[in-house]
Amino acid sequence: MPVNQKLKEIIDAATPLFAGEAEVVRTYFDWSNRTAATDRKWIAHQCFKEFYGSGYGEPEHGILVEWGQQMIDKRPELDKGMDRHEMLQLVEGIYAEYHHYCLFADIYDNLGAPGEAKLIPSALKNWTEGKTLDDYRLDLRMTHGELGQAAMDFTEGGYCTLYHEGTKLAGRGGIDDQIAAACQIVYDDEVGHMLKGVVALGDYDLDDAGWALVKEKVVGQLQRRIHMRNGQFSYPLSQERIKAIHAGDIEPIAFDYSIMNKAA
Ligand SMILES: [Fe+2]
Ligand SMILES: [Fe+2]
Repeated sequence: MPVNQKLKEIIDAATPLFAGEAEVVRTYFDWSNRTAATDRKWIAHQCFKEFYGSGYGEPEHGILVEWGQQMIDKRPELDKGMDRHEMLQLVEGIYAEYHHYCLFADIYDNLGAPGEAKLIPSALKNWTEGKTLDDYRLDLRMTHGELGQAAMDFTEGGYCTLYHEGTKLAGRGGIDDQIAAACQIVYDDEVGHMLKGVVALGDYDLDDAGWALVKEKVVGQLQRRIHMRNGQFSYPLSQERIKAIHAGDIEPIAFDYSIMNKAA
């Protein structure tokens, strides 16, 4: 599949920021300030993201119920010719995100002392930098509708850098092996979700102003994603380092264009 030149420009703007997100996580995993408590903190935050998505659903619901309701609502359409595979995609999406939640929640519980309360969804909260990103994305969707959603889908999972860095912990033993195993499963699912977003954005037929807007909003989200991860992981990077990353002082991630052919 030939890659649309405008999409390529957006990918080029994104790859240094994907590398920044990877740097946060990689720095954390080898950080001297890393403890079981900071591990529980990032894992609980990750559980929040997997369970509640953007954090703007009904707090008592989460993705499980929101998407489950969509599944119930769409059921009659199956009798009116709705493609059965479209429904299957929805079911798979519910399974995948809930599975990710379970994987990380199990590690959280394993890190607790014997007899300590298990993780439950109502105990999960968004965090300052996570909320800043969610606010930016909410505004993007409210102001720019479908195109805003497309710019958001492009950034879903941040090129899977957290999961990719997590898989590299394999072989260290203990909790790190559990994190690596969970991240491998999530990575395999999320690569597909991310590609869907990248390919969908490339299918848009926009004028120059439209592409400039998408690029600005992709960069805006990815810059905030670095702060979101830095807060999630107890600030392994200094604010100065993040400023330097935003300014381009980093080796970009090599975008794997071959995986797009698989998604096409
Ligand atoms: Fe997920
Ligand atoms: Fe996902």
